[in-house]
Amino acid sequence: MAAARHATLRGVSVKIVPSVLPADFARLGDDCASLEEAGADRIQWDVMDGRFVPNLTFGPDVIAACRKVCTLGFEAHLMCERPEELLPRYVEAGCELVIVHPETLQQAHYTYRSIRELGVRTGIALSPATPLAFVEDVLDLVDLLLIMTVSPGFGGQSYIETMEPKIAKARAMIDASGFDIELEVDGGIGPDTIAGAAGAGADVFCAGSALWRYDSFAEGVADLRARAEAAWKG
Ligand code: DX5
Repeated sequence: MAAARHATLRGVSVKIVPSVLPADFARLGDDCASLEEAGADRIQWDVMDGRFVPNLTFGPDVIAACRKVCTLGFEAHLMCERPEELLPRYVEAGCELVIVHPETLQQAHYTYRSIRELGVRTGIALSPATPLAFVEDVLDLVDLLLIMTVSPGFGGQSYIETMEPKIAKARAMIDASGFDIELEVDGGIGPDTIAGAAGAGADVFCAGSALWRYDSFAEGVADLRARAEAAWKG
């Protein structure tokens, strides 16, 4: 079943990764289980420390509690100052992918390597104004490049369409590198915006508030996946 969800299009596997930022925090585990049932590919935890971004969200213990009720892969998007101090905690909590912002790192190359050495995959997230130049020399250490299409900190923001040329440049950079790197977009992704992001070359789509606007998670995951796949087919 899981294999069937990953339609392969010209070697690309479209993935829908719900963010649980809009979830009912009194029922987080239930929402994780429902998203798994709905056919999501992974779950994104938006970890915010109130310093790098003006919001405060999940600690590792919250994620660990939900690990017990959901078998989907968890990715931790660390929007935190000094994320290197947190890395082991989020890996122990059950995250298979840890995403950090170079804007928060003193020694980025060392941190990216540290994530790999913890036995999980490395993600690099770029805020809208952060250029691709921050990653072009470390692609050998990257498993996922996350292009933010909103300024990090809150869900429910509007998609920044002017990020599409950056997504296209990232796609070209990844394809030229020969490395197996997922290209994810995050922020304002929904039925009216996912085609633009997919058409620019993204293959992983983090959606939060849009999913909660559908009649069901299953309808939302299926609709967003179909729209992204249609855009890839051109
Ligand atoms: C911003 C967050 C959001 C979240 C998705 O820091 O990263 O982008 O994941 O939120 P929506 O889909 O509601 O924009």
